[in-house]
Amino acid sequence: MLLQVKVYLIATLYFFGALYVILFPPRNYVMSGAKMRKVRSASKHIKFTNYIDYEMLLNIAKNLTREDQEIAHVVHLSPRTINNRSILALELRSDKQSRKPGILIIGALNGMTWGAPNAIMELSDKLLYNTNYQTPFFNDYDWYMVPLANPDGHYFTQNLHSRKPLDVEIWCRNTTAQIDTRPSVWYKNVDKENHNETCFGTNINRNFAYHWQDDVHKTPTRCSQYYPGKKPFSTAEAQALRSYIHELGDSIQLAIHLHASFVLKKEFILYPWRYSLRQPSSYNTLQAIGEYAARKSRLPDGRLYEVHQGSNDARVAGTISDYISGVVGTELVYVVKPYHEQFPNYTDKATLETYVTKSISTILSLVRGWRKSTKQNTLTFFGRDVEF
Ligand SMILES: *[C@@H]1O[C@H](CO)[C@@H](O)[C@H](O)[C@H]1NC(C)=O
Ligand SMILES: *[C@@H]1O[C@H](CO)[C@@H](O)[C@H](O)[C@H]1NC(C)=O
Ligand SMILES: *[C@@H]1O[C@H](CO)[C@@H](O)[C@H](O)[C@H]1NC(C)=O
Ligand SMILES: *[C@@H]1O[C@H](CO)[C@@H](O)[C@H](O)[C@H]1NC(C)=O
Ligand SMILES: *[C@@H]1O[C@H](CO)[C@@H](O)[C@H](O)[C@H]1NC(C)=O
Repeated sequence: MLLQVKVYLIATLYFFGALYVILFPPRNYVMSGAKMRKVRSASKHIKFTNYIDYEMLLNIAKNLTREDQEIAHVVHLSPRTINNRSILALELRSDKQSRKPGILIIGALNGMTWGAPNAIMELSDKLLYNTNYQTPFFNDYDWYMVPLANPDGHYFTQNLHSRKPLDVEIWCRNTTAQIDTRPSVWYKNVDKENHNETCFGTNINRNFAYHWQDDVHKTPTRCSQYYPGKKPFSTAEAQALRSYIHELGDSIQLAIHLHASFVLKKEFILYPWRYSLRQPSSYNTLQAIGEYAARKSRLPDGRLYEVHQGSNDARVAGTISDYISGVVGTELVYVVKPYHEQFPNYTDKATLETYVTKSISTILSLVRGWRKSTKQNTLTFFGRDVEF
């Protein structure tokens, strides 16, 4: 008798439970957009196998936003660069109705990080179309991607890739040699301050107005690859990024500058400050999340990323990461530097894939580290923390 009552009771409870879910579906289910998307890429291999240039980026972005207007949105930042290119931002939001914690990823500020647009677009594609990435990564955050922050510099270096290299210092001063050789490296954009200049270009990642030029005793010369500009924000790129970053403001909780290390077996996860040895206020959290990410994204040969404050190696002022941290006030800011060859073999897909895979894994590990630090991914069962 008692048993029967219990059975009815439970059946009734289940019935109302089911009714409730049908009448009031969880918001995410209907509105997230996640369910409407198709799974297109579950492949382990990369989708974009050539270095993505500006034109291709425009096409990919156009395709994405045409197919998924609800969740993918393209913004052209202004002002345009001196070669009339607009820096492109791709915004991915799983839920139009509500704002979620924002993650900003900026890539290819340096003219040699050819793989960064690939890494960021590959990650965007996975977030949108690969179910393994939708929960937790896509559905829990708003993603703001700037895959190619220095389009002129990238066009310049990629366009010259098949030429014979010449030491950059000599190249800058010899206009005859410039006709059929390429500089050995190029970190800058290509802007000119005077028409008759042989040395041109400004290092965008030295051009931000937070302790600009505070690190050096002597301003780098016009020809240097670290030339910081006549004044802070002299470059269109830094201006465009500044406006965008300020517009996003508080919605950004985690910012990552996807950079590259050009030294073999020297790979880094860095955080502010880069201009000063002074520790940031969130030093312990930054270091802990960085170390967690390093463990989770162990490098293919078993090494770990070196994790520390940016200024430990060398003091560098006017960087975008210090600006975001110091002026915008974002607490979690990282610079990720996986190894990247300079002027890699343009058709070698394996080199590109290695950089892309490492970058994605490191970015997502930082997100995981952050979730863990805020216990966003932890449930407590009988006093034990269980991660998911
Ligand atoms: C964009 O879509 C068009 C038409 O569907 C296709 O031909 C083209 O290859 C796509 N471009 C990229 C870069 O995916
Ligand atoms: C720059 O590009 C835009 C868009 O492609 C175009 O409308 C504009 O005329 C261009 N400006 C110059 C000076 O070429
Ligand atoms: C400049 O380069 C050209 C050709 O590469 C070379 O013949 C010439 O000697 C160089 N000039 C100077 C001043 O080094
Ligand atoms: C280049 O032009 C500027 C003014 O436009 C002038 O001051 C400078 O002396 C010139 N430099 C050379 C090397 O001709
Ligand atoms: C570049 O890579 C391709 C494909 O891996 C290879 O066939 C080619 O020989 C390489 N070129 C050079 C100059 O190493």
